Formats: sequence, C-alpha cells, structure tokens
Amino acid sequence: MRDLFYLTDDQRAIRDLARKLARERIAPHAARYDEAEAYPEDSMRAILESGLFGIWVPEEYGGNDLGCLALSLVAEEIAWACAATATQYLDQPLGGLPILLSGTAEQKKKYLPRLATGELLAAYSLSEPGAGSDAAGLKTTAARRGDRYVLNGSKQWCTNGDHADVITVFATVDPKKRAKGVTAFLVEKGMPGFAVGKKEKKMGIRASPTVALHFTDCEVPVEQRLGAEGEGFTLAMRTLDMTRPATGAMAVGIGQAALDAAVGYAKERQQFGQAIASFQGIQFMLADMAMLVHSARLMVHHAARQVDAGITGNTYEASMAKCWAADAAMKVATDAIQVFGGYGYTREFPVERFFRDAKIMQIYEGTSQIQRIVIARELLGS
Ligand code: CAA
Repeated sequence: MRDLFYLTDDQRAIRDLARKLARERIAPHAARYDEAEAYPEDSMRAILESGLFGIWVPEEYGGNDLGCLALSLVAEEIAWACAATATQYLDQPLGGLPILLSGTAEQKKKYLPRLATGELLAAYSLSEPGAGSDAAGLKTTAARRGDRYVLNGSKQWCTNGDHADVITVFATVDPKKRAKGVTAFLVEKGMPGFAVGKKEKKMGIRASPTVALHFTDCEVPVEQRLGAEGEGFTLAMRTLDMTRPATGAMAVGIGQAALDAAVGYAKERQQFGQAIASFQGIQFMLADMAMLVHSARLMVHHAARQVDAGITGNTYEASMAKCWAADAAMKVATDAIQVFGGYGYTREFPVERFFRDAKIMQIYEGTSQIQRIVIARELLGS
C-alpha cells in the first residue's frame, strides 16, 4: 500500500513516531489492561515521555501546534494498539480545546502549557443521566452568588473524570433556557463539593475510566467560568466539531487493526488443504473491509484538514467522518471475527477486543444517529 502522499514532513514524522510508540510500548499492554479494567499507566507514561500530548496546543503555550490532522494520525496509531489508551489521549484536547477556544489570557496561561506537557490531565463533562443525545437538556445548575457560582447536580459518562486535574463542566444558569442557559466552568480536582462517583463497568475500552461526577453546593470562582453565561452550548458543539475527526481516527485505527489481524490470519489458517485467503469468499470480505477503512481514513483526514485550514462550520464533514468511521470500524471488526471463525469469538485473539472497542465509537461524542441528524439538518437547511 502506498503512503499518504499529502502528508507534510512534520505530519509523517509525528505519525511514524506514534506508530513506533504504539507498536512497541502500548500494544504489548493492551490486553492486560483490558482484562484488568485498569488505568493504562504504562501506556500513558509512554505517551507522556514521547511529548505527543502537546501537538494540538499552540507554540506560545508550549505545544507543537501541529493541528488536527496530526492529532488524527497519532490517534489512529494509538487506537490501532489500544483504543482505551487512545480515548485517554484524546480526552486531553477534548477537555482542553474549550480553553483554547474560549479561555481568557489568564486561563490559557494557567492551563495550556501544563496540558501540553501532560503535567495536568483534562476531561470534558457534558452528559448527564437524563441528558445524553439531548445535551441542551442538561440539569446541573450553576447559580451565581457574588464572585462565585454554586454548582449542584450530577454528570455522567465522564471519560477520565477520576484522573483529570481540570474538567470542563457544562452546567446551566437556567434550565428553562435549554441551550441558551448552558455555561462552561473549569472545575479542578479537590474543589469542595465536587466528588467523583460510580465508575462504569464497560463492554469495551475498559482501561479508560468512565465515571459520574457529583456537585453538592460546589463553589466555583467566577474566574473559572469559560466564556460568558449562556455560551457553553455552542462552545461544547464547536469543541466536538474539532474533536470528532480525531475520534473518527480512533475508529480508523481499530478498523485497521482488525483488518491487519484478519489478513494475517487468512494467510495462515488452513482449511480444505489450503490457506483460507485463497478462497474468493474471504478475499471479497477482506477487500470490502479494506475499502471501508480507506474511505473512513480519507473522510477523517478531509475533516481534520478543514479544521487546520481554519474552516469553521465544518459540522457536516466532521459528523460524516465520525459517523462513517465508527460504522466502518464496527463492520470491519465484526467481519474480522467472521474470518477468524470460532477462534475470533474467544478472548485469546485480539479481534474480540476490537469488536467490543469498536462499539463505543458509534456511541460516544455523539451517537451515529445524532451524527445523521446533524448531517440531514445541514443537507435540508433545517
Ligand atoms: N457549532 C456552533 N454552534 C452550534 C453548533 C455547532 N456545531 N451546533 C449547534 N450550535 C448552536 C446552534 O446554532 C444554536 O444556537 P442559536 O439558538 O443561537 O441558533 C444552539 O447551538 C442550539 O442548537 P440546536 O438547536 O441545534 O440544539 P439541539 O438541542 O437541537 O441539539 C444536537 C443539537 C446536535 C442534537 C446536540 O445536542 C448534540 O450534538 N448532541 C449530542 C451530544 C454529544 O455529542 N454528546 C457526547 C458528549 S462528549 C463524550 O462523549 C465525552 C467522552 O467522555 C468521550
């Protein structure tokens, strides 16, 4: 297969660095962390030591400013090795981009340099028990009291909420206002009234912690508000427009890993006196899987390059890329198990993990149904 001709030297170098790191220092631990449902300490340390945390952060804040395509290339490589670690890795821009987009000079100075090095970990908390796809229906309240806001309520499905030092939390100053009441806050670990709740026991990406957050009269200084009151919903959506391509890239990584495993197995596995790769039925499956992964990668790269070109309002392409890549990963992982037959259904082979990990791609950062709603709205102008 030919390499992607359109990558710059910097993008190629960062992709190659991530590939080496993923294969040598992340892949060997993936099954162990998945089995134990344990935080991927060694894999996260490897990323930290490699300096890859700062690639989305501008140089003036200590990052490499390599942009969304570079981030997507790295996310794909890490997800090829371990989708849970890739989820943790991408939580840094998910939690940190709102600061870059809406933060004051002080907020940027306070957080971005330390997010770039990985000294601080970030998270993003939008969803609630009663507000998943309907994000504007969130109910956690933020009441202004002098120079503070008092937060009350519970958030759910927060990736890395138990390890993050700073979390971009979306609450509402008036639930009746729906989207227009949503306001973002930077909540730090240890703030009185803030507690981490139940850790979910998940089907896949088991090494990536997903927790509930509880706020009980949690006082947050006004300086920790991100943007103005009521600007939180658009900030949440603008952030997702920038992160959905990279999330799609994770799905591409899982799809590529499943395809690689299926190709390798098809060449080795003997049935009816020959390798199963010699059967046209298997060849057609592999070719279809390859086309899905390839098309998903191109859509992801196109959406990421739009972000890098400063094209705003890229919701349409970002949603298409995320949705297509997620659905592709699910189909490719399912077919990889079929190529492996009974062996693929056991936990001895990694395709079983790829299948479980692929499923979340169709759910988090907006379900595939929500992406289709977004795409249809753009198409129909509604
Ligand atoms: N950029 C900027 N502004 C946007 C926007 C975007 N992409 N999308 C919407 N807005 C603005 C709208 O223009 C509108 O503003 P005005 O009223 O001023 O015109 C306002 O936001 C409200 O928009 P909608 O009327 O479209 O809102 P809605 O209630 O119909 O919802 C939705 C839209 C697309 C369904 C949205 O709720 C959505 O994306 N839902 C899915 C949420 C999601 O992705 N959750 C995942 C959480 S992240 C995660 O998974 C974390 C993790 O840990 C991995």
